[in-house]
Amino acid sequence: MTTYDRFLERHPAYAATSALDALRATEYGRIDARGQIYLDYTGGGLHAACQVQEHARMLTEHVLGNPHSVNPSSMEMTSRVERARSAVLEYFNGTGEYTAIFTLNASGALKLVGESYPFAPGGRLLLTADNHNSVNGMREFAQAKGAWVGYAPLTRPELRIDMPAMDACLAQADPGHANLLAFPAQSNFSGVKHPLTLIETARSKGWHVLLDAAAFAPTNRLDLRAVSPDFVAMSFYKMFGYPTGVGCLLVRNDTLGALRRPWFGGGTVNFATVQGRMHVLSPGEAGFEDGTLNYLSIPAVEIGLRHLQGVGIETIQARVHCLTDWLITQLLALHHGNGRPMVRLYGPANMTQRGGTVTLNLYDPGGHLVDYRRIEELAAQESISLRTGCFCNPGAGETAEDLNEADMRAGLAEEGADINLRRFLHYLQEHGGKSAGAVRVSMGLASNFADVERFLAFAARFRDQTALTIGTVPFDIESCRVVREGG
Ligand SMILES: Cc1ncc(COP(=O)(O)O)c(C=O)c1O
Repeated sequence: MTTYDRFLERHPAYAATSALDALRATEYGRIDARGQIYLDYTGGGLHAACQVQEHARMLTEHVLGNPHSVNPSSMEMTSRVERARSAVLEYFNGTGEYTAIFTLNASGALKLVGESYPFAPGGRLLLTADNHNSVNGMREFAQAKGAWVGYAPLTRPELRIDMPAMDACLAQADPGHANLLAFPAQSNFSGVKHPLTLIETARSKGWHVLLDAAAFAPTNRLDLRAVSPDFVAMSFYKMFGYPTGVGCLLVRNDTLGALRRPWFGGGTVNFATVQGRMHVLSPGEAGFEDGTLNYLSIPAVEIGLRHLQGVGIETIQARVHCLTDWLITQLLALHHGNGRPMVRLYGPANMTQRGGTVTLNLYDPGGHLVDYRRIEELAAQESISLRTGCFCNPGAGETAEDLNEADMRAGLAEEGADINLRRFLHYLQEHGGKSAGAVRVSMGLASNFADVERFLAFAARFRDQTALTIGTVPFDIESCRVVREGG
């Protein structure tokens, strides 16, 4: 019996996703043609060749000008941008109930909410410790306007939202003020799928809810008639690889009026005067789309959504589920000759409410942490694309390593920022070999069994090797991933 047979025996549902093997050979043929193992879907999805070809055809066959004028090239472009907007609303089942605002990326969508939300003394911003930095950064707007800012903690070791603590936080809202809860539908650190029932619970207690769907939407259906957060942020390249540079903020129509833009610019005003010092913001999405949109790329969103629909999000989800379960099970089965486990997994060790993002560190036979940056370096030598660091999600990493506020203050105390960082990493090492980062492998639309097997074979090669022989990557403050990282 081959390993693949054993896999199929454990995951008979995988067979029903074989259409994706055919697609891998055709639309994503470049991966195998180049001998690449792509395991960074949470960083960015991969596009099908047909998406780019269709988009290129559109660009080469039509005369397309800056939208929002009445000349023919402009009108043609306007209608294509608006078609893409309608396609986004339809895809998420939000037509009629939501407004779709095109942004640069998910971060752009989050920043729009941060700067426009009516934070004020008496109001609150509640975040989960598991959040991307582009959500964490919203606290700067809230603090500047005098709102209370707090975090709901996560449980260890599964890194799920601590629900009793969350309930206690939610109960503190003064419904007379503006209160915003922001959390990710799926963690880009641990792969945990947080309960979407939290949306209705929070709304019923006087909170607006922002759902960060950036890591969720590529492998899950988000139906805005089933769950209706006030705001949803996403990046399209994460869903289908192409185009980059376009994201979206979906806003409930009955919440849109609560937002107050702190400025106006080209494209966002119906009227502005210099002498009168007044302006009238454009209604709807136009009031939030600053300057000229990435108009040539936006039609590629409609193409990408059609591609995703053609493949079927449920098929992608099923496939990723099978592959992730296999990967986790096999990783946890890796042991050194002395019986010690080779892998420490962060987050759930089973498939209950989790997606295809798997974060781990490798340990040597003596229990010493292997430098995750060295793992990335060695993986690269084998054409494996994975990601290391803390993935812009410091709260999940801190919880995983049981670092509390006092630890962080002690580690980061006193000196200049750069030196602090060095000290901090040293401090972590000195305090029980804690890690400031990890290795992340993530699966998506074009993943297959061979990708997973190649990574497992790569990981197995560290059996009985000491951290010292594997080596470390010299710490370079200029490229320090604790500070400068993405994904
Ligand atoms: C959960 C989550 N939120 C937000 C973002 C930010 O996305 P972008 O960098 O496209 O703005 C990411 C990116 O990795 C993410 O994973």
